[in-house]
Amino acid sequence: MKLLDPSHLMLMAEIRDIYKALPDSEEFGLIWTDNMLIESLKSQEVFGLFDEEGLLKSFLIVKKISPDIHEIHMMMTHPEIVRRGFMAQLFQAWLQTCARPWEIWLEVHERNLAAIRFYEKQGFLLDSHRANYYPDGGAALLYSLKCN
Ligand SMILES: CC(C)(COP(=O)(O)OP(=O)(O)OC[C@H]1O[C@@H](n2cnc3c(N)ncnc32)[C@H](O)[C@@H]1OP(=O)(O)O)[C@@H](O)C(=O)NCCC(=O)NCCS
Repeated sequence: MKLLDPSHLMLMAEIRDIYKALPDSEEFGLIWTDNMLIESLKSQEVFGLFDEEGLLKSFLIVKKISPDIHEIHMMMTHPEIVRRGFMAQLFQAWLQTCARPWEIWLEVHERNLAAIRFYEKQGFLLDSHRANYYPDGGAALLYSLKCN
């Protein structure tokens, strides 16, 4: 796992662009512009997992809400290598760096089944939902995970 900086913008944007070109990309929460990615690289924590050739496999954007509370803003694995455990590896590696107690919050589009299954496998519990949250009318599901 590596902490990313603004020099990694293009690698992240390439992965985002592949998803953005897919139908129903709204479900992935892909309103992320280059400026938003740059802003997150400057002011939030962005972690990446690379292959042996230096290509970015997965990245994770998290925001520290308070010393104990982290919010996942985005996680993405290159679409050609999904379902190989890379995000689970990255997420678990990041989790090891969080000082206890911690709480992690996130929201996900109700039709983003890959992400929902991922979060539930990691132990996240559904807290609530916000109807009509996304521009396509989809609801946001709010999940959290806690460790004392
Ligand atoms: C969600 C996402 C990050 C998962 O990354 P990944 O590297 O493929 O995840 P992993 O391989 O570590 O998956 C771990 C577990 O999550 C679940 N999972 C992941 N993708 C799944 C899918 N398409 N369908 C069902 N379950 C899935 C499974 O339980 C999987 O374990 P298993 O393969 O042993 O059954 C990836 O699909 C992605 O980048 N999606 C587009 C961006 C996005 O929607 N991000 C989340 C919104 S912020």
